[in-house]
Amino acid sequence: MASLSHRVFQSRLFLRLYERHVHSRFLSGFAQEKTDYQSIHDRLRQLAAQATPSPSPAEADRPDRRGTEDGPPELPPVDVHPKDVPSQDGSPAGGRLLVDLGCGTGWFARRLAQDPAHRGDRVLGLDRSAPAVEQARRLAQAAGPSSAALDFAVADAKELTRHLPGPAAEIWICGCLHQMDDPAAVLAQVAASLTADGLVLCQTFRENPAINARVDSQVLGKFGHRVFPRPEFDDLVAGAGLTVTAERQAGLVLLAVLSRAAVGPELPPDAVVG
Ligand SMILES: C[S@@+](CC[C@H](N)C(=O)[O-])C[C@H]1O[C@@H](n2cnc3c(N)ncnc32)[C@H](O)[C@@H]1O
Repeated sequence: MASLSHRVFQSRLFLRLYERHVHSRFLSGFAQEKTDYQSIHDRLRQLAAQATPSPSPAEADRPDRRGTEDGPPELPPVDVHPKDVPSQDGSPAGGRLLVDLGCGTGWFARRLAQDPAHRGDRVLGLDRSAPAVEQARRLAQAAGPSSAALDFAVADAKELTRHLPGPAAEIWICGCLHQMDDPAAVLAQVAASLTADGLVLCQTFRENPAINARVDSQVLGKFGHRVFPRPEFDDLVAGAGLTVTAERQAGLVLLAVLSRAAVGPELPPDAVVG
């Protein structure tokens, strides 16, 4: 049976209210701190800047990189945008593909497309809910012109590689891994869809031994959201050939940046299917 979360993301009324009235209230409670789209975006960007260039495994395990059980100290503000860092294959700035996977109403896709640093790039928002994609398109149109080309499409994350025009420099997967029916298959597709130096910017739920969150976890379960046990999350990431390069946990809310653990098969640039 479809989960409550799956059903509400088919409701046009809910989707109209979601960004303004639901998202921040819902997440702030489980993070035990004010959490909204902008803070998630900014923190993931900070973590991504830390993650570039890839630290050694010993570096990656430093407490200031992996965070602490109670949520790490705020990271210092960074000016480094991924685009300021030459890609490892030496490709010119612009022309990169950024994906907002499980985009829902498309906040992250719009934010990325409006960022002047992404001028000349392409942003693709994908979601399996057709009404969510309709709403994402409406909101993008209302937001006006963007720096990057912005498109949305209905797609199941389990078939991600079929829907991409080439390898992605960034795959944002926020608020959805924990409600996907096969997160291992999704992460395997994500890993196969990244450029060699590509990053996954992920917001999900993970158990936090520092807090007693039994009730919160049960509430999330009612919505159809998993709270990943730590070993399971680590296995999921490793099983997909990915590694956590930087992370921050607040309450049950995990922000993590992942990269490819080793060079694997990459989509050819012209692999347009579906
Ligand atoms: C809680 S919403 C988050 C939306 C958006 N990323 C955000 O942060 O506002 C989760 C989204 O994941 C989508 N989703 C769940 N399973 C999916 C799958 N297998 N493939 C694509 N989208 C999926 C749902 O339709 C829903 O729009």
